[in-house]
Amino acid sequence: MIRKRTRTRAGGGTPAHGRLRAVLGATTTALLTVTALAALPQTTAHAAGTLGAAAAEKGRYFGAAVAANHLGEAQYAATLNREFSSVTPENEMKWDAVEPNRGSFSFSRADQIVNHARSQGMDVRGHTLVWHSQLPGWVSGLGASDLRSAMNNHITQVMTHYKGEIHSWDVVNEAFQDGGSGARRSSPFQDKLGNGFIEEAFRTARATDPAAKLCYNDYNTDGVNAKSNAVYDMVKDFKSRGVPIDCVGFQSHFNPNSPVPSDYRANLQRFADLGVDVQITELDIEGSGQAQATNYGNVVRACLAVTRCTGITVWGIPDKYSWRSSGTPLLFDDNYNKKPAYDAALSALGGTTDPDDPDDPDDPGTPGAGCTATYTTAEQWGSGYNGKVTITAGSSPITGWSVDVTMTSPQKVLSVWNGSPTWDSSGNVMTVRPSWNGSLAAGASTSFGFTVSGGASPPPQVGACTAS
Ligand code: G3I
Repeated sequence: MIRKRTRTRAGGGTPAHGRLRAVLGATTTALLTVTALAALPQTTAHAAGTLGAAAAEKGRYFGAAVAANHLGEAQYAATLNREFSSVTPENEMKWDAVEPNRGSFSFSRADQIVNHARSQGMDVRGHTLVWHSQLPGWVSGLGASDLRSAMNNHITQVMTHYKGEIHSWDVVNEAFQDGGSGARRSSPFQDKLGNGFIEEAFRTARATDPAAKLCYNDYNTDGVNAKSNAVYDMVKDFKSRGVPIDCVGFQSHFNPNSPVPSDYRANLQRFADLGVDVQITELDIEGSGQAQATNYGNVVRACLAVTRCTGITVWGIPDKYSWRSSGTPLLFDDNYNKKPAYDAALSALGGTTDPDDPDDPDDPGTPGAGCTATYTTAEQWGSGYNGKVTITAGSSPITGWSVDVTMTSPQKVLSVWNGSPTWDSSGNVMTVRPSWNGSLAAGASTSFGFTVSGGASPPPQVGACTAS
């Protein structure tokens, strides 16, 4: 049986002990420097030290796909519990796992994950109700009318079992073909029930658990292309006809042949503009070192730049358990060490490794080292503003610093003073380093400024300060 707990906010979670500690620490020590019309603290004196806590400070969840058979591994469970605020069962909620024979449901392995997650205060994404893959043979053998009732019964039984426990459900997964046709993928559902099966699945899902967010989830839809256009048209049609849909999941499996698209953020935004949440649901990026780290940072920043991007899930914890393990696509290596990709994701979320965290195996053990970055809007007018970032050294002197500042398109930075910017490929993120003011005594401050055109709001997102 599932342990029943009160639902927290959709897309977020009750912080577990470590996350709560980090969030409270950040909140109580936040620096607020009001200088002019608007003052918006963007970072804190004690930035969050885990992915889940840092994402929570941005109003989002940071989740991982989890396999029940790894939960008994101490380092796996410790990393999951420390870092993540949401969980997706990797295989345990799929049709072949929960209804291997018609009408005979088996929830034990999925329950194991849900109970673990909920006992840690994490939220759960449900994956997935209607999918052509991992479908038991008996489903494919049914005629149309039997298939319709089997599909609706499957949705009803599974959602009822987990009612109140799941923040978002992937109601229908991967129903569109790859390539340029924009057509629906052949499947027992499509072939026997026609296009209407998707709508019917969503209506059944809404009737079963009205509080769960209902998502359509797919891959190769991460940029603007024929497949994402077809999904876009479907979502637009659903919204116009009142078919219940709340979110679209972008799986985001990236590798050198399928890199992070340059219009990733714009694509997320156009779906959000239809009136649905967007979620990054199965993120992994093959690669290593700084190149992989840069990609992870860009994906996290893209989500943060879209107000309705409510959370990110990575598709596994250590590389060794990834479905693409040879591509080392995850944030932790086989020994659960944090990779550069982890640091980039955490930094993009505005967090930084807590130097005093006894739970952190990578703890550098240098309390007081580092710097903080605090943002204020110094001046503001109809179409732009002057921003100011104050850098303050910790209790040790520093000889250099860097801070990422992310603008929301169509905003553009016209000029920067007292700092040297470099830009990422999107043109929205500038990394600012000292121009002359890199050396700071312990506790001393300096600042850099910049002029932005293209809109007086929103303010920029200012990442954590990195000291050298
Ligand atoms: O559990 C059996 C084991 O008993 C058996 O010995 C072994 C032999 O092959 O297979 C094991 O099952 C495997 C299962 O993963 C658990 O490890 C299946 O063969 C294997 O096909 C299955 O792969 C999963 C895949 O979906 C199936 O399509 C991956 O773990 C899972 O990460 C992957 O996840 C999908 C998402 O659901 C949808 N989006 C794409 C994503 C990646 O393919």
